[in-house]
Amino acid sequence: MENTGFAETMAGISRTHYCGELRPAHIGQEVTVCGWVQRQRDLGQLIFIDLRDRTGIVQLAFDDESKTDLFEKAFTARAEFVLAAKGLVRERASKNMEIPTGEIEIEVSELRVLARSETPPFAIEEDSNVNMATRLKYRYLDLRRPDMQRILMARHRIAKTARDYFDENGFLEIETPDLIKSTPEGARDYLVPSRVFPGEFFALPQSPQLYKQLLMVSGFDRYMQVARCFRDEDLRADRQPEFTQIDFEMSFVEQEDVMAIGEGFIQRAYKEVRGIDIPLPLPRMTWQEAMERFGSDKPDLRFGMELRNVSSCVEKTEFKVFQGALQGGGSVRGINGKGLAEKLSRKEIDKLGEWIKAYGAKGLAWTRLAEKETSSYEKFLSPEEAAAIREALSAQPGDVLFLVASDEDATVFAALGALRCELARRFELIDASRPCLLWVTDFPMFEYSKEEGRWMATHHPFTMPNPEDLDKLESDPGSVRSLAYDMVIDGYEAGGGSIRIHDTNLQERMLEALGFEKEDAQNRFGFLLDALKFGAPPHGGMAWGLERLVMVLMGVSDMRDVIAFPKVASSADLMSQAPAPVDEKQLEELGIRLAPQDTSKAQREETAD
Ligand code: AMO
Repeated sequence: MENTGFAETMAGISRTHYCGELRPAHIGQEVTVCGWVQRQRDLGQLIFIDLRDRTGIVQLAFDDESKTDLFEKAFTARAEFVLAAKGLVRERASKNMEIPTGEIEIEVSELRVLARSETPPFAIEEDSNVNMATRLKYRYLDLRRPDMQRILMARHRIAKTARDYFDENGFLEIETPDLIKSTPEGARDYLVPSRVFPGEFFALPQSPQLYKQLLMVSGFDRYMQVARCFRDEDLRADRQPEFTQIDFEMSFVEQEDVMAIGEGFIQRAYKEVRGIDIPLPLPRMTWQEAMERFGSDKPDLRFGMELRNVSSCVEKTEFKVFQGALQGGGSVRGINGKGLAEKLSRKEIDKLGEWIKAYGAKGLAWTRLAEKETSSYEKFLSPEEAAAIREALSAQPGDVLFLVASDEDATVFAALGALRCELARRFELIDASRPCLLWVTDFPMFEYSKEEGRWMATHHPFTMPNPEDLDKLESDPGSVRSLAYDMVIDGYEAGGGSIRIHDTNLQERMLEALGFEKEDAQNRFGFLLDALKFGAPPHGGMAWGLERLVMVLMGVSDMRDVIAFPKVASSADLMSQAPAPVDEKQLEELGIRLAPQDTSKAQREETAD
């Protein structure tokens, strides 16, 4: 297409309505609409153009051939041209009841071609079947699609609801800095080199955690922020390197107060965005119970298949795999895939056995109760032991029993928790008609990291241990519970928070328990430790991932679909091609000399999936 046509302007006309809002009530009114051509139909003496903006589509009609100019313009309009059209709203001869504007059309009296368009690389339509890499390369076009527009409008609505809700409850939105000191909280920091101090770096915040606590020390009492966060971690379908938190913190409170404010917001968000009533208070479950029953600290309660501990059935077994797990201090647990025997072939079960190894399990033991019963482990057990396991799992003909044994409970939970979700997804066992929200409470304060060879904070080092467990901080860290809580929605960790330590001595003790040398602790968190010496009120808060909220509220499974300009798994942006090399001069100013690069490692991902 020749793209040299003169682009008209908006001089002298202005939009009166959005395309999607016109109804029979507007019949007889003169309106002006603007938007993109969805399609043009030329029927000889009659031309129709479907014009689209973010609210929907309206039909423009041209049926007076004597208006040559107008007819000519309408004739040349192609998909994605940008038009402004003025005219009378009239009743449509053949109505389209499928769309909200389908009973009317605009009899156009003035048409402007504001911009032409090359043929787009894919059709701009709902659910278009285009691969992710192409969508991301032409993201500005992808975002024209109605489903993407709907999602980003909902995202706006959720953030707006948060600001309204927290404002109404006395919270102040205060911005915290994005260039801060590197104090890794778990994930890797993104670093920003300093020009003024060559060789030194800022870090981008993983969350506003330290600053919001300082705001409590400053007496702001109730803070909130829609905050950008940055984490240089391995990406998954529910993680991005930069994301947004709805973050809040409040003073003079206990856990109950924070949870009440937190669930009040989520109730409001569901009402405002989906029109769904969420009854409060939300159900609660301790971390321990969530692990025992669902093998996960973010249990999806929309389906059953709960875990059962069958260790007692095989206490005296001679089967080495089970025996080893129990002797090593672990357990043997299982789930019952109800009625799956006919749906899961032996081969598919073997594949699951391979798949589950990614979760640390050495293997998957199974019994398939099809017409001909088969089992991978029953031959190694006594008949009593095999029968006890069947009973513990309420086995019936047609079921498939799955067992995982490990000398570490955490491995058994991770493997069976993942298997449970995978089976539910594969066999569509999830009742998605109602959202499922709950609090998971009483998280362990510490997790042991084999890699680091020390105890790490499960939530973060500023979280208050449960006062009942304080005496075990040094002697038995693994059994200390914390005043931390997560909000779980449909199997996602949508948000989390805790009551914080507001006492300097306890904070120092905590950092010591985490293996920080005094000097190191002072070096990293000195400003917080100092602040705690000047009158810190008891405080606590939490943060939701805005992206995760949009995902659960809008039923989206890929986080990239709820972000206007997301990154792919390698953290690259396929549209702008960031990250990219910089000028030698820029590096010089920063005092940076590059080491020889291993280009094989830095290969940019061309595909998005
Ligand atoms: P946490 O690290 O649990 O807590 O993060 C809070 C919420 O942020 C979301 N989230 C993410 N979303 C997208 N991509 C990521 N990479 C990502 N990482 C986390 C999750 C998570 O529940 N400062 C504390 C909160 C507090 O204690 O107040 C914090 O950041 O939905």
